[in-house]
Amino acid sequence: MVTIEYEGDKAKVYSDAGRGDTFAEVLARRISRRNLLKSSVAASAIVLVGPESADAAHPESADAAQEASPVPGAAGSTLNFEPISQDTSDQIKVAPGHRATPFLRWGDPITADAPDFDPTNQTPEAQAKQFGYNCDWIGFLPLPMGSNATDRGLLIVNHEYTNPELMFPGYLAANPEFAAAMVSPQADQRQVDIPEFIANPTQNIVDVELEAHGLSIVEIARGQDGTWSLVRDSQLNRRITATTPMDLSGPAAGAPLLMTGTDPTGTQAVGTLNNCAGGVTPWGTALTGEENFQQYFANLNAIAEDNPIRAMHDRFGVNEEASERLWENFYDRFDLAKEPNEPFHFGWAVEIDPYDPQSKPKKRTALGRAKHEGATSAIAPGGQVAIYTGDDERFEYAYKFVTAGVYNPDDRAANMELLDEGTLYAARFNDDGTGEWLALVQGENGLTGDAGFPSQADVVINTRLAADAAGATKMDRPEDFETNPVTGKVYLVCTNNSRRDFDETSKANPRPNNIHGHIIEITEDGNDHASTSFTWEMFLLAGDPAHGSTWFAGFDPDEVSPISSPDNITFDLDGNIWISTDGQPNTFEVNDGLFAAPTEGAERGHLMQFFSAVPGAEVSGPVFTPDNNALFASVQHPGEGGTYEEPISTWPDGATPVRPCVVMIQAADATAGVGVVR
Ligand code: FEO
Ligand code: CA
Ligand code: CA
Repeated sequence: MVTIEYEGDKAKVYSDAGRGDTFAEVLARRISRRNLLKSSVAASAIVLVGPESADAAHPESADAAQEASPVPGAAGSTLNFEPISQDTSDQIKVAPGHRATPFLRWGDPITADAPDFDPTNQTPEAQAKQFGYNCDWIGFLPLPMGSNATDRGLLIVNHEYTNPELMFPGYLAANPEFAAAMVSPQADQRQVDIPEFIANPTQNIVDVELEAHGLSIVEIARGQDGTWSLVRDSQLNRRITATTPMDLSGPAAGAPLLMTGTDPTGTQAVGTLNNCAGGVTPWGTALTGEENFQQYFANLNAIAEDNPIRAMHDRFGVNEEASERLWENFYDRFDLAKEPNEPFHFGWAVEIDPYDPQSKPKKRTALGRAKHEGATSAIAPGGQVAIYTGDDERFEYAYKFVTAGVYNPDDRAANMELLDEGTLYAARFNDDGTGEWLALVQGENGLTGDAGFPSQADVVINTRLAADAAGATKMDRPEDFETNPVTGKVYLVCTNNSRRDFDETSKANPRPNNIHGHIIEITEDGNDHASTSFTWEMFLLAGDPAHGSTWFAGFDPDEVSPISSPDNITFDLDGNIWISTDGQPNTFEVNDGLFAAPTEGAERGHLMQFFSAVPGAEVSGPVFTPDNNALFASVQHPGEGGTYEEPISTWPDGATPVRPCVVMIQAADATAGVGVVR
């Protein structure tokens, strides 16, 4: 819990735990840590090593590096790298002593029979066998299934969306309305609110885009030299796209709102869209979150004002008229004038079995409908499985689903049914550092028939409206939501919210105009993930410490790397948090990156930048192999803001088109751990 005090445009953040003492405490801790550092450096050879080590590359900064970098044993931190600086170049950068390599690029063939990438001759058939666009969340599943193997596994990767203006030459056409406005006698370019260029898709372009969405599943293997590579002829390699048939299961399956012209049963969906974050379950399936699905649908205005489904779609911001992508010109299902219920097939968490290439994905409606983000599993002491999910929009909610049944490590078939029955909750954060999980269950917490929730199907289809009624806390774009496997604490990442006014702030969303975002740390009561109450505190208030209003879990802000717009997180074997960002080009005018900090001990909150992406990109989906030998992360939408004809990035090939890409990061000695001491 922290308090922010404002004096004019300056802000200062205090810990509520011991306000007057805080700085003295920090200072004392710092001095003792430095002493520890010195003795430990002198006594130990385990400092950064390798050809690109801090010491070798910057001998003059060796002392500074040793002071800035935690050392194993020092104050309990195992993070051991020299932080890198902010960067704006069109090259990826990683901390000294490490290597970051493009691993899977958009268009790379991922099946034995896939054609090579040819950007000048793209077809949906080729794209359906190649790595998709805008890689995001990455899951690692060991092979064989159920093992703890660290030399062979499956990567499952979300492909959130497409940037056709970067994928296809000539995609953007001059807008005749703009030209007409500019020749009018009153024309003043600064006052013409009409885009100069508009989308000009063809059938082939739209069909390629549909196949570039979804997910890729690929087998990867570690070679003798310790590095990983794609096993291209694996029978498990598979694309799932915006045209793959899927089941709708759980309480909303078969509901009238899910019935469409092509699916009178309300149980069959076509494809998955805008797959952003996700998670793996204890039984080795993946859950992928459908986020900004509203953008694909057009013509909300075709639905009468008094038709209740209009408000349901409007809550997600479905386009009133044409969509930007214009897919509705090619497929009726994207046109609400023709298929008003089709958007109800999206916004779900979708369960996929990567170990069975024939399996049909299932949209698990019990987990609610939102702009879904991470779907992290945690097993409660009673055996129930909790799934934490965010809903990435300003003033939306954080959710948890707890299964009714219990996880059975010996019965995968039974586990595969767990996600259809359970309780969905939305979080309420109280200013005293406590919180409650409010059950979104028909008949409870105001979710009555009179209030618009005659059945549980209505509750899960309109999860946001249910959370409104229940009185959950409106958050600053609650995105990733992950458990720390070492401590059991749960971290909710709020990316930013520039629209929060001062009178809308509270302890859990304490900053107006929160352009840099924050991370909340939650401890479930009894460390029980099935609990309905919790305590929480502020872990990170992101931003540039030099400008105030930041908080790094009490750590001295003078010693951290500046960070903005935290987005995805993961944890290493020691419980250090790794944070990727989405928004630094807008706030700091530098490339997005990946950062790490200890979560416990005296080094708690000592944030250091580890990786930097390229212009226009966000970093997403960081995941370690189980032994922390490799870290995979997505460089998503590189070059966004440019066009095919006028690129702002040509990464990773040094040529157009720029290609979203999963990078593999390892220590220079590929047998060592990433960023930590092993
Ligand atoms: Fe797709 Fe919320 O980032
Ligand atoms: Ca994201
Ligand atoms: Ca994002």
